[in-house]
Amino acid sequence: MPTLVIVGAQWGDEAKGKLVDALGDEADVVVRYSGGNNAGHTVIVGDEEFRFHLLPAGILHEHVTAILGSGMVVCPKGLLEELDRTRAARPNLGTLRISAGAHVVFPWHRMLDRLEEEARGENKIGTTSRGIGPAYQDKVARFGIRMGEFVHPDLMPKRLREVLDVKNRLLALMSDGAESLDFDEVYHEYRTYADRLRPFVGDTEIVVQDAVARGDRVLFEGAQGALLDLDSGTYPYVTSSHPVAGGACLGTGIGPRDIHSVLGVCKAYATRVGTGPFPTELDNELGDELRRVGKEYGTTTGRGRRCGWLDLVALRQSCRLNSLSGLVVTRLDVLSGFDPLQVCVAYRRGAETIRHLPTNTWEIGELAPVYETVPGWPEDLTGARKFEDLPETARAYLWMIEEYTETPVAILSIGPDREQTIVLRPDLIWG
Ligand code: IMP
Repeated sequence: MPTLVIVGAQWGDEAKGKLVDALGDEADVVVRYSGGNNAGHTVIVGDEEFRFHLLPAGILHEHVTAILGSGMVVCPKGLLEELDRTRAARPNLGTLRISAGAHVVFPWHRMLDRLEEEARGENKIGTTSRGIGPAYQDKVARFGIRMGEFVHPDLMPKRLREVLDVKNRLLALMSDGAESLDFDEVYHEYRTYADRLRPFVGDTEIVVQDAVARGDRVLFEGAQGALLDLDSGTYPYVTSSHPVAGGACLGTGIGPRDIHSVLGVCKAYATRVGTGPFPTELDNELGDELRRVGKEYGTTTGRGRRCGWLDLVALRQSCRLNSLSGLVVTRLDVLSGFDPLQVCVAYRRGAETIRHLPTNTWEIGELAPVYETVPGWPEDLTGARKFEDLPETARAYLWMIEEYTETPVAILSIGPDREQTIVLRPDLIWG
């Protein structure tokens, strides 16, 4: 059963896109299972750079069926722009399918995202302003418009009118009467999107189930990171979906026993965008330097990412949360020249030593990281092609990650290109 979930093991932006692209080449089906265009997956092929927000990165391979699963929320305009842009650069893309159960993101979702953030004041989450939270709110309230209805010529205007009436009342309330949407305008714009998307929408769950039953290679592409998970992340500073590996079951139509392998992608250091606790954050010159060297700016929003040392406590928690088969350590090359390095191996609260992220988010803010100081390496790692090419101190850094998290490092990435990848445990990929 060659099925593989690729999940972000930290707070997102772990460079999953490159891995999905590389392994997508070996897959028959690639399915994205959560989130929307809050995600940003960058793939570099030769001189070309592709930025995906909604399309599964695996779509770059012509033989792949690329699916947007029912766990996703999809902005039709964003998806079509992305599709047009990608097709212009690569006419022979894989086959696109969209689950009839995926929810549609409308303009009122984006407006409410902004108004809700304004209302939160100092406690704002720092969302990507893409309407993701409000779209998932509608889904949970059983009020959302799903792709199947959206592309149905008769059902769409009916549902749109019903929902827009309510949303206009809400918008008026939240904006003191300043904001509203006109039915005709929204309908005419969105009807053209629906017409274009109709051929792609259908029952993708059966496509995934049949592929699994046949023994095809199916790759489940995670977005964001496990520590941003709605249930398991640092609530309320989380996204509104389930980026954890379990989300691959919720958002595509398979069960847990259908998952064979789970790879968790983590940076060799840590970053976070938006608000929320980040115990190892370097709010100083060193953090600025990491941001500069690592070019840590968001693919979706362009915001500078908060940077810090590797947090092995949070990472071990993520390994357990996702039942990881192996880790994919990315951006090890960025740490060249940072010497010494610090790695968080526990937290301290008064006299107490803690080895997990507490469930109460405010308690995380009370923790002081306990660091182990380890030697760095001055060498440039970007030319390494096998484990033995790495300096001894870089190898020791990886061994430390394995030992503390009790999870093997399966793959190593030392640059954005496909060739800058070292596979250490091929047996952990497809099995
Ligand atoms: P939302 O998903 O736009 O509602 O944002 C909620 C939180 O998740 C914010 O802190 C965002 O910065 C964060 N977030 C959402 N998507 C990503 C991502 O792809 N990478 C990193 N952080 C993200």
